[in-house]
Amino acid sequence: MGNRLEGKVAIVTGGGSGIGEAVCKKFAQEGAKVIVAGFPEDPVEEVAQEIQEEGGTATPYTGDLSVLANAKSCVQLAVKQYGKLDILVNNAGTFPETNMLTDFTEEAFDYLLKNNIRSAFAMSKAALPELQKTKGNIVSAGSESGALGLAQNAPYGGTKGFMHAFAKGLAAEQAQKGVRSNIVAPGPIDTGWTHKETGPMDSQMEQMVTKGTLMGRRGTPEEVANVYLFLASDEASYVTGAIFPVDGGTLIAKGPAGDQAAESMKAQPDGKLKLKHSKESHTSIRSQDK
Ligand SMILES: NC(=O)c1ccc[n+]([C@@H]2O[C@H](COP(=O)([O-])OP(=O)(O)OC[C@H]3O[C@@H](n4cnc5c(N)ncnc54)[C@H](O)[C@@H]3O)[C@@H](O)[C@H]2O)c1
Repeated sequence: MGNRLEGKVAIVTGGGSGIGEAVCKKFAQEGAKVIVAGFPEDPVEEVAQEIQEEGGTATPYTGDLSVLANAKSCVQLAVKQYGKLDILVNNAGTFPETNMLTDFTEEAFDYLLKNNIRSAFAMSKAALPELQKTKGNIVSAGSESGALGLAQNAPYGGTKGFMHAFAKGLAAEQAQKGVRSNIVAPGPIDTGWTHKETGPMDSQMEQMVTKGTLMGRRGTPEEVANVYLFLASDEASYVTGAIFPVDGGTLIAKGPAGDQAAESMKAQPDGKLKLKHSKESHTSIRSQDK
């Protein structure tokens, strides 16, 4: 256990699976009290319980966070349970479909807008009054695709481009209220999304995204959580409006650069967190979430 977030209270949206689970567990290990927030079907209760079993402090919240009333009750839970809110991590997101735009369904497009954009809007709006009191900060999930676009998933990249500009806009306006806002922009991460068995990518896309990194591999959820930790902590006190790539060099890779990566870079680090839900992403559209 460290103390880089000692005394801090954090909400992590999409905290039940993938990168969100790692962020919750990392923050709790560093002393934060964590609200693990996600859809009712997500393993948020399990993650909160696993944190408690490791000696950390966490409470689950379930609800569709794109609904402003739910976002408000999630923030109220943090305040009721732990007395304040210091950190909001806007990590919730969805990846329902890969398709050329001519075939991209309207349903998947609307689903992306709701979960990738509206949830960040609702949660930030609900959390800001509390964050202003604590001089806290927001760290949101962007993506390398928010800068570069993503073939066969142009709408998804578009939602992440929105997040980059949204987070910068918040940084610009909230500095006068003492609140920082930054972005973590992952490349392909080892969650349910980037495996053909658990997400909409086919094997060709899977290969393309990993070869397109300088390191020839997916990043681990923990490697992403490490950067969330830095940005959320007081160590990043002079960092706002920044976009931090955690993408194994995807932004500067040309062609299948990963083929040339050193073996040492191609090997995923073991990490220290006990992650159990990395691949439990829901990538299809669930009717109750519409
Ligand atoms: N996995 C990657 O390769 C990758 C790359 C770049 C960016 N990202 C971003 O990182 C974030 C996490 O991705 P992941 O791979 O861990 O996916 P994931 O599916 O494992 O986690 C996302 C979680 O958010 C939850 N969620 C979505 N919409 C919600 C809502 N409206 N209300 C409550 N919960 C909601 C989902 O149910 C899920 O548990 C996303 O924002 C994603 O865009 C991921």
